[in-house]
Amino acid sequence: GVEKKILVIPGDGIGQEVTAWGQKVLMAIAQNYHHTFTFEEGIMGHVAIEATGNPLPDETLEKARRSDAILFGAIGHAKYDNDPTLKVRPEQGLLKIRKELGLYANLRPIKLFDELLEASSIKPEILRGADILFFRELTGDVYFGEKIRTADRNTASDLMIYHRYEVERIARKAYEAARTRRKKLCSVDKANVLEASRLWREVVQEVAKEYPDVETEHMFIDNAAMQLIKDPKRFDVVVTGNLFGDILTDEASQIAGSMGMLASASVGDSTGFYEPIHGSAHDIAGKGIANPLASILSAALLLDISFGLKTESQRVIKAVEATLRQGFRTMDIANKHTVNDCIMGTDAMGAKVLENLN
Ligand code: NAD
Ligand code: IPM
Ligand code: MN
Repeated sequence: GVEKKILVIPGDGIGQEVTAWGQKVLMAIAQNYHHTFTFEEGIMGHVAIEATGNPLPDETLEKARRSDAILFGAIGHAKYDNDPTLKVRPEQGLLKIRKELGLYANLRPIKLFDELLEASSIKPEILRGADILFFRELTGDVYFGEKIRTADRNTASDLMIYHRYEVERIARKAYEAARTRRKKLCSVDKANVLEASRLWREVVQEVAKEYPDVETEHMFIDNAAMQLIKDPKRFDVVVTGNLFGDILTDEASQIAGSMGMLASASVGDSTGFYEPIHGSAHDIAGKGIANPLASILSAALLLDISFGLKTESQRVIKAVEATLRQGFRTMDIANKHTVNDCIMGTDAMGAKVLENLN
């Protein structure tokens, strides 16, 4: 077996509730396959601000640097969402750790389990067979450009900025992935209006020449948002900037049935970081009803991408599939055909997946 150090950062709200199950799944895999995973825990977000005044304490960052992979939950608290004047905010912790670890590529697979065809608000015949892999650029764009607020507080701006090398490296990663899939890549931008997008398109066109076996398409973000719902099957790999990727993948969660189903892998220069795409979900936090599958599927991505444990990763995905086939559902993926006593909370659902792992 392999020996690995994993840092777990549950964060805030449902992050705490779901990450416990991602971790339990990793522990079960270690036991079943005779690996040694040692776990450390780190704080980030609102809980870290409460404890230290800092959304990303140095101690958490140090633990991150010395781990082999990181499993993250979610950060965020209603207090900050309701008060835009607060200077220290949970989200700063997440943005900083992404930047510090050089996690420039955020892979967001949109894979619909057949069992969930009825859970989405989109018609089953439109959805069946949908399988998209998003590459969201994660350390550039309007997220990291200069922010200005004038002294009179009446004007504000965020600079949307991309450098050639940033577009090149995410484009290459996306093309490499497209080669192992259906060999189609769609690059999404707003090049008809934005200069940063014109650079983006220019660079993707150049990188495309290195991948003549992959069919390249360029699409404007507004059209992409529409096509995604109209005909999700037309997409294979999608590569886009930080902001557009953030928005498009929340939309695309409806192709997989729910925000509670979407896992992600943030990779780049060093330690891989695995996180559901969803947030701390104040509306359901503390109720024990959040879907733990996004965290469990993030653990599956961690096993595959950071540890190269493909069999173990597939085993986790099969256990999720089996659980869904047995009819077990959290609220967010229940539908009119789901029998009442098969609708369960976070812990019961997580426990079913564990049973299916053994
Ligand atoms: P959200 O993703 O937290 O929730 C959006 C909707 O999806 C809510 O109705 C929620 O109940 C539902 N949902 C999300 N995850 C679910 C799950 N696992 N099971 C069932 N339902 C689920 O987005 P929001 O409400 O816009 O933001 C809430 C807070 O989270 C904010 O403070 C925001 O900044 C933060 N946030 C953090 C992250 C992150 O840590 N990566 C991502 C998005 C938002
Ligand atoms: C996500 C979140 C974050 C983002 C926020 C919380 C900073 O929405 O991980 O998708 O916008 O990247
Ligand atoms: Mn988001």
